[in-house]
Amino acid sequence: MKKSKRRKKSNTWKIKQHRDQFFKKSKTLGYRSRAAFKLIELDKKFRFLKENTNLLDIGAYPGGWSQVARQKIDTGKIMSLDLEKMEEIKQVSFLQDDFLKDSTRLQILKFFKGNLDVILSDMAADTTGNKSLDCIRTNQLCSEAIEFSYKNLKKNGVLVSKLFMGEDFLQVKDLAKSKFEKVQFFKPEASRNESKETYIHCAILKTL
Ligand SMILES: C[S@@+](CC[C@H](N)C(=O)[O-])C[C@H]1O[C@@H](n2cnc3c(N)ncnc32)[C@H](O)[C@@H]1O
Repeated sequence: MKKSKRRKKSNTWKIKQHRDQFFKKSKTLGYRSRAAFKLIELDKKFRFLKENTNLLDIGAYPGGWSQVARQKIDTGKIMSLDLEKMEEIKQVSFLQDDFLKDSTRLQILKFFKGNLDVILSDMAADTTGNKSLDCIRTNQLCSEAIEFSYKNLKKNGVLVSKLFMGEDFLQVKDLAKSKFEKVQFFKPEASRNESKETYIHCAILKTL
């Protein structure tokens, strides 16, 4: 077998192993998605899920992140939002709608009444087959989450969002830095190495 073919086969094997490892773990622990482990790692690093946190989970389906958030948050309110219908999670209010719509945003604001501590966004745009375009479209969703968070989080609020290390990565980073005092990046182990996915953690709103 040619060297390049052997390398490709070994990479495919590694990706499958990685996927299977987190898939099995999520089944054992009752999580709806492997993504749950990404949030567990993110929280271990940044410690934003506290007992009375009021939290919005955008792009929540099938619900792994919301499950983890509900386990860690004791008394705080949780709202989850997705384009897809999500199976109920106890004590999580679910809204099936588009985050980009004004009417959706109004419903979110009505729910939290100015008391929003943490916004999570794991939103990903539908894939088109064009990786560069997919990155840009998902990063646009991240930018929308940054703008919304800046307008609606409490002063010491936190935003954690998915983004891709694509060509517009620096633009998104600059946007975040213009709105938050502290901006950090972290790629959880549960996120595949080959994927350009990473997560941005933004804390403390800047005052103009
Ligand atoms: C990677 S999945 C989220 C996985 C989830 N964090 C979990 O733990 O199970 C990305 C989700 O983003 C949602 N999404 C994409 N664009 C959206 C939008 N404009 N409004 C709401 N949800 C959106 C998709 O429907 C998809 O379910």
